[in-house]
Amino acid sequence: MTYLETAAQFYSEVAQTPQVGLCCVQSSPLQFPGLNIPLQMQQMNYGCGTTVHPAELVNQPTVLYVGVGGGLEALQFAYFSRRPSGVIAVEPVAAMRSAAKQNLEIAAQQNPWFDPSFVEIREGDAFTLPVADTSVDIVAQNCLFNIFASDDLSQALKEAFRVLKSGGRLQMSDPIATRPIPTHLQQDERLRAMCLSGALTYEQYIDKIVDAGFGQVEIRARRPYRLLDCDTYNLEADLLLESLDSVAFKVPIPQDGACIFTGKTAIYCGKEEIFDDANGHILQRGVPAVVCDKTARKLGSLLQQQVMITDSTWHYVGGGCC
Ligand SMILES: C[S@@+](CC[C@H](N)C(=O)[O-])C[C@H]1O[C@@H](n2cnc3c(N)ncnc32)[C@H](O)[C@@H]1O
Repeated sequence: MTYLETAAQFYSEVAQTPQVGLCCVQSSPLQFPGLNIPLQMQQMNYGCGTTVHPAELVNQPTVLYVGVGGGLEALQFAYFSRRPSGVIAVEPVAAMRSAAKQNLEIAAQQNPWFDPSFVEIREGDAFTLPVADTSVDIVAQNCLFNIFASDDLSQALKEAFRVLKSGGRLQMSDPIATRPIPTHLQQDERLRAMCLSGALTYEQYIDKIVDAGFGQVEIRARRPYRLLDCDTYNLEADLLLESLDSVAFKVPIPQDGACIFTGKTAIYCGKEEIFDDANGHILQRGVPAVVCDKTARKLGSLLQQQVMITDSTWHYVGGGCC
């Protein structure tokens, strides 16, 4: 069996017998006015953060959701798309497709605005998405890509890039590791399927996204997710996993590298009223200006004592400095 077959078998099991708390963090699912999330869906919340960013879900976007699980986030996206096939959910595991279908039918009984046709479930996988090039506004996946080995992850990201319209967004939530996960755990296929041992470090994860062609990445949340303790996992020291919510934009990569926004700001504190770096960044004395990490580094070395660069908040929404 390959690790992908092990994962498929595992998700077939948890589609039939929900495993409460398998991936999710200690927060309840996002609620919206008039949205009722069936209990069955909540019990099958196998994500580790959220990929649904309500403030940006305007104009009934077409969403491709990869790895439907119990259908929770597909339903949340459908709340905003509200039209037949507004959400296309791709899922390779038959038992998971039928569990999601069943849950969405229950959702239709509890939500007068919702029709099951709003979520079209298609058989397929992350490596060959069954949709045309440049055809969707958003690709979303929650707690799936971390399962993939390096080359498979690159392929999945390349596929997401292919199907997105220009300017489209890849919205992801995945565990990341605070240091590289040792090989003996990475090779444990069941732990990998459970989202516990395939995670990359933050730097490796972002590099993969940029390598796939995404020119801008925004970090929406970063928080503790699980602790792999030395005794249970045969480690030299405990290893903290975090969950990372991100949005990557299909925009060209600037010549000097991608813009990664982690919530840093630059505050000019020199003698002039305004500092202009002649590269699109105008800083007003004393006023924080949002900057990507690359610009933060450049301004920091250019201005040294005359600029304060604030720490990453790991929460950044919209706009940009470059
Ligand atoms: C950890 S669960 C997450 C489910 C859902 N995103 C959520 O937040 O509840 C991973 C999902 O991806 C599906 N999956 C497994 N292998 C896949 C693949 N190669 N391509 C697409 N989906 C896959 C699983 O069957 C399962 O539904």
